Amino acid sequence: MKVLVTGGAGGVGRYVVRELHRHHLPQTVVDFYAPADLPPGVDYVSCDLIDREATLHTIRDCDVVVHLAAIPNAFMDPPEHVIAVNMVTTFNVLEAMRDNGVRRIVYLNSQCAIGFGMHDVDLKPLYVPIDEEHPLWPHEAYSFSKRYGEDMAENYARAFGIEGISLRCSPIWMAKHLDSLLDLLAPSRRGEPTPEPSFGGYLGALDAAQAIRLAVLYAFTGDEPIPFEVFNVAAPNTFYPDPTLDLLTRIYGETPDVRDPGYFRENPHASPFDTRKAQRLLGFRPKCDWRAVELWEVQQ
Ligand SMILES: NC(=O)c1ccc[n+]([C@@H]2O[C@H](COP(=O)([O-])OP(=O)(O)OC[C@H]3O[C@@H](n4cnc5c(N)ncnc54)[C@H](O)[C@@H]3O)[C@@H](O)[C@H]2O)c1
Repeated sequence: MKVLVTGGAGGVGRYVVRELHRHHLPQTVVDFYAPADLPPGVDYVSCDLIDREATLHTIRDCDVVVHLAAIPNAFMDPPEHVIAVNMVTTFNVLEAMRDNGVRRIVYLNSQCAIGFGMHDVDLKPLYVPIDEEHPLWPHEAYSFSKRYGEDMAENYARAFGIEGISLRCSPIWMAKHLDSLLDLLAPSRRGEPTPEPSFGGYLGALDAAQAIRLAVLYAFTGDEPIPFEVFNVAAPNTFYPDPTLDLLTRIYGETPDVRDPGYFRENPHASPFDTRKAQRLLGFRPKCDWRAVELWEVQQ
């Protein structure tokens, strides 16, 4: 099996390339920029995925595309640029896959596509825990781009049989962010309620890379209506000291509808993003816990 990793020179890409290499999966990185350090045997091809012709010539001769290339941040670029780059690169990649007979895309989506994470207003979830059936309520450029990228992948599966797996990830924490993470976590470590409430979802980059590898290798049963699956991917808990339902009640002034009380009974600090489908079907087993963030890189 040969994997092509778009955006493989980026923050998440670096972890994905190492993970695939550790598991002996041949791969090529496609990015604007040459990666700083590539494991031996991993090729690199320079390509601007905005350029349709260049993309058609590059996204080929592989079995699976892990599509990471995107602007991952709604704040550093104008919103019209974020949405344009993210949507056009995904469209060009899917078109090239269709033309060149590539079998599968693993699309790195975000919990923002659901409407929570990068957001302008605190919309109250219809229910918790938020599973993959929860309606999607994006309302800013980055989140729109991720939601509609997933829609594109779903309809390339429906129309052209290209297998698609979309991983809706919580914010991905990387070693390069350790200093700012320690600042973010300081109140939680002192057991103080956080001054800026959010859902507290997070995902260690090593665990994100694990989920991507599992999605690359996932065997569709053939009984699915279309060869497409969506998975929430997150750490099993939040990084806040308050139990999750207390946290949500503090944010919204009332508790959202709890569809599965047993979920929070079993773990009062469970992530509001339900990852049981990823655990069941992909075999996802997250290892990175916020309480030991300094050790993540050496624990694996
Ligand atoms: N970082 C997170 O917390 C997070 C959370 C959920 C999902 N994601 C998704 O993960 C993916 C990777 O995010 P990241 O944090 O590693 O971002 P990053 O900016 O570190 O990496 C993105 C890479 O894509 C490349 N790229 C961008 N536009 C390109 C183009 N036109 N042609 C070729 N290459 C291009 C960049 O050069 C860069 O190397 C994104 O799709 C993002 O939406 C990230």
